Amino acid sequence: MGIKILGTGSYLPPKVVSNDDIAAALDTSDEWIYSHTGIHARHVAEEGETTSTMAAKAAKAALEMAGVAPEEIGLIVLATSTPDYAPFPSTACIVQDMLGCVNAGAFDLQAACAGFIYALEQARGFVNFYPDKKALVIGAECLTRILDWSDRSSCILFGDGAGAVVLGNDEAPGVASTKTVAHTILGADGKGQDFIKRTGGTREALPLDPKTGIPLKPEPMLSQLTLQGHDVFAFAVRKLSKVVGDLCERLGTTPGDLDRVFAHQANGRIIEATARRMKLPLDKFWLNLETTANTSAASVPISLDQAVRAGELKDGMKIVMVGFGAGLTFAGTYCVWPEL
Ligand code: UT7
Repeated sequence: MGIKILGTGSYLPPKVVSNDDIAAALDTSDEWIYSHTGIHARHVAEEGETTSTMAAKAAKAALEMAGVAPEEIGLIVLATSTPDYAPFPSTACIVQDMLGCVNAGAFDLQAACAGFIYALEQARGFVNFYPDKKALVIGAECLTRILDWSDRSSCILFGDGAGAVVLGNDEAPGVASTKTVAHTILGADGKGQDFIKRTGGTREALPLDPKTGIPLKPEPMLSQLTLQGHDVFAFAVRKLSKVVGDLCERLGTTPGDLDRVFAHQANGRIIEATARRMKLPLDKFWLNLETTANTSAASVPISLDQAVRAGELKDGMKIVMVGFGAGLTFAGTYCVWPEL
């Protein structure tokens, strides 16, 4: 009984860009990129593919696995930092239309690479409150469209893709789960706001026409990702181990009791350092960034779906999903699969 992940799905665009492809255009190499990040290649959305089309494909696969019809979905929460539009209409509304989830409310949520876990928590609250309804939680990104492809220290890190889960609750109506608070940590540290940024937005005032005082027609704003990799790296290693440790402590267990950790795939060295800090064997951590790179809010649900479809995530396994990202944000959630 309780709130459960009923199905998972993911989508990676077919086009693959290898490190060698990037090295043909920039002063870098497969050797440097792989040794500093664990990444060999990334999937890249092509003409016609957008965050919403990838999200809809991942969500459709999750609905099919769950055996849930689109009309049964009461809420879609879509975590993204790369919505189809910047930022409205929400990508969640576009996906709602694509899938025919006619009974669903829909909104986007922006918590960068920790966004999926934030979104999962919103949806958990929803199905906790409305146990007769299902929720769709999606992480989807088209990051390759906001990268500065001349900046070798950031463009090598990211890829495109989407992952999704369907949540349901088989508690009797009115019986609220007591797990929500203990099982999840959502946090932020705005002092690190400069470490990862997407430029553009409304920070800059528009120049005014000196005659009329009315704003002049705005120039198209460049919306690009900027990164202070070192600072993020240090934050990530500190936070990932702290969040997992704190969750385990709250629940009266230890990291050693976990069967799997699904950590945000930003850099293999971050995950290795986290494993070392926690004295956990690296094989407890799901690793796929060799071929997917960093897909931000999509990385945790893509990993989950890959583990489920590979038969490596079995009922009763104790897992933690944990992420960090721009903001800065951090989040973790504990789950005895598939119960949240
Ligand atoms: O999901 C959240 C977003 N993700 C992140 O923020 C990632 C976190 N940070 C990282 O993964 C790492 O900091 C990076 C992979 C981004 C950088 O690795 P690093 O070991 O911290 O390298 P660095 O920035 O200290 O750069 C070392 C050297 C520099 O050269 P000099 O100044 O020492 O001569 C860079 O110019 O490596 C150079 N460099 C490169 N060389 C070849 C940086 N990028 C590259 C490259 N190819 N792609």
